[in-house]
Amino acid sequence: MLKSVRYGGDYNPEQWPEEVWREDVGLMREAGVNLVSLGVFNWGIIEPAPGEYDFGGLDRVMDLLHEAGIGVGLGTPTSSPPAWLRKAHPEIRLVDREGRALAGGTRHGVCPSSAAYNEACAAVVEQLAVRYGAHPAVELWHVHNEYGWAGVECYCPASSAAFGRWLEAKYTDIDHLNEAWGTAFWGLVYRSFDQIEAPAAAPPGVNPALQLDWKRFSNEAHLANFRLQREIIARHSAAPVTTNFMIPNCEGMDYWRWAREVDLVANNHYLIAERPENHIELSMSADLARAVAAGPWMVMEHSTSAVNWQSRNLAKAPGEMRRNSLAHLARGADGLMFFQWRASRVGAEKFHSAMVPHGGTDTAVWREVVRLGGDLERLAPVTGSGVDAEVAILWDWESWWALELEWRPSIDLGYRERIEAYYESLWRQHVTVDFAHPEADLSGYRLVVAPASYLLTSEAAKNLRGYVDDGGSLLVSYFSGIVDEHDTVHPGAHPGALRETLGLWVEEFHPLPEGGRVALDLPAGPARGRIWSERIRLDGAEAVGSFTDGPDAGHPAVARHRLGAGTAWYTATALDDATGLRELLGGVLDHAGVPRPAGVPEGLELVRRAEHCFLINHTDQDITVPGIRGANALDDTVYDGDIPVAAGEVVIVRIIEETPPPGSGAARGPGVHGR
Ligand code: GLA
Repeated sequence: MLKSVRYGGDYNPEQWPEEVWREDVGLMREAGVNLVSLGVFNWGIIEPAPGEYDFGGLDRVMDLLHEAGIGVGLGTPTSSPPAWLRKAHPEIRLVDREGRALAGGTRHGVCPSSAAYNEACAAVVEQLAVRYGAHPAVELWHVHNEYGWAGVECYCPASSAAFGRWLEAKYTDIDHLNEAWGTAFWGLVYRSFDQIEAPAAAPPGVNPALQLDWKRFSNEAHLANFRLQREIIARHSAAPVTTNFMIPNCEGMDYWRWAREVDLVANNHYLIAERPENHIELSMSADLARAVAAGPWMVMEHSTSAVNWQSRNLAKAPGEMRRNSLAHLARGADGLMFFQWRASRVGAEKFHSAMVPHGGTDTAVWREVVRLGGDLERLAPVTGSGVDAEVAILWDWESWWALELEWRPSIDLGYRERIEAYYESLWRQHVTVDFAHPEADLSGYRLVVAPASYLLTSEAAKNLRGYVDDGGSLLVSYFSGIVDEHDTVHPGAHPGALRETLGLWVEEFHPLPEGGRVALDLPAGPARGRIWSERIRLDGAEAVGSFTDGPDAGHPAVARHRLGAGTAWYTATALDDATGLRELLGGVLDHAGVPRPAGVPEGLELVRRAEHCFLINHTDQDITVPGIRGANALDDTVYDGDIPVAAGEVVIVRIIEETPPPGSGAARGPGVHGR
């Protein structure tokens, strides 16, 4: 879909006099910019009063960009409604859980179920689509901006009423809903759909099934606004339509569902600057974006250096932006865009970095921007190629929602906590992973890891069982397979959905006190667990490690079940990379036949994208990577076995031969599958 690697950023020319536009376009050409996101927040400018439009400025800037050969991702400005709309229709304001209607003076904070808001969106999008639908600069439509940014859930009366209608369409009969939601508990029975309230601030213990459907509805409410806009655009334009996701940092949006609705997945990712080794979280974001996309995807926003919205907005170190951008590219991105092109002088984001900083072009940031643009031109052959992965981690937003509702066995049970522990350990072992929905086809993976599959449908459980039966290796972490899609416990002993697959059952959970630790013995030596212990009863599985202290001392802590042609593994406590998880995973990877590169130090990120191998050195030491014959994709240097990667640098090699294969490679995974 994209011809070469798309490069550029959010362009907000309305903040600048027109003579700056000409300078901008010249600098864009110098930096190799080929796409900008335009008009993302300009509603108040192009529609100064209801039904009155002024496209003069936008016309001129579109033509200027087009003449310079720069494509446009044309925004629909609906995430920043004009002041006149808020004044005329105060009911469009998003109402938070505590019942506060969010004020204006900023962007976002609008109810996606508001009729007045949706009508106003439709009107302005129609104007844009008619006017620019066939404009030759338009390569892409960028609908709205970060749906859900100011809160996914709106509790206003219109949302509540829409929730009732949505439930009626889903369950058709109120008794079906009562059954699914288990309303016999506390006698919380409904006699008609209009008796159901949105789960706003309430005493504790709101029916978890209601809360899950509320989250599904809220996700759908935003999707409905997206579809409304997409359909208007499609009547006037053949260009692909997208919106920017916030993977993995938006809990409320089920991006498996969103990915089916966009023509191209676009993701925004910002590092938490003070988080140690935050480049691992970046890799996870990219792998998950690739997974939901199951096809082309791009980074719609990341930052050249500091952001402005964290407590301490640390600037990126020299070379860090380059490593970040090329890590996204390594993991499948076909576009690398920034927020934003030119640093603002006005408004809330004036301390946010940009491609053109306040200091202008005699700056390290600008030089890095120009260097990256040049490199991306040479990396055009990477565009559209796939990433090889033989391991998948299961990811399901619904399990995230359910696991973190109130009144679970421990507040230390965190969805991302476990996923990231496994992801990080695999990253350090240079294993590239896909993410997969639990109901997706897993047959192409040698190993599937389920670190936090608390909510698992019967369908998903069947899928996992079939995967193991057919020869797959499955590694499951504690508190998985516990409930179905309504947060109803699967019948019988835990983990009901996976009991037979795992060949064991759990007699009792023993969550640990705050900061508590348990010791265990694994085949590779002693290990330490956090958060969780439980009494496992084997029923077909064999113990491969046991607790040596704590509430379950002397009982299994890790079990293995040979089933059909495959094997299922289970861990009953929270192991981390440094406390036993690396060794455990190492054994499981060996058993599953997943190759890892030899002689590559931990801080060297090694990712294979089709015939290109990306070597990203996150350390302050020069590193030599052995075992690859190939040519440098940027300067054609030929390597005959050893590849030097200087401290902090990135080397991209077009592979001629590898011995042994670096990264995965033997069998191509099937990619990833949404629902
Ligand atoms: C988000 C928004 C952008 C901008 C950046 C700043 O990603 O989409 O408009 O505010 O944050 O980091």
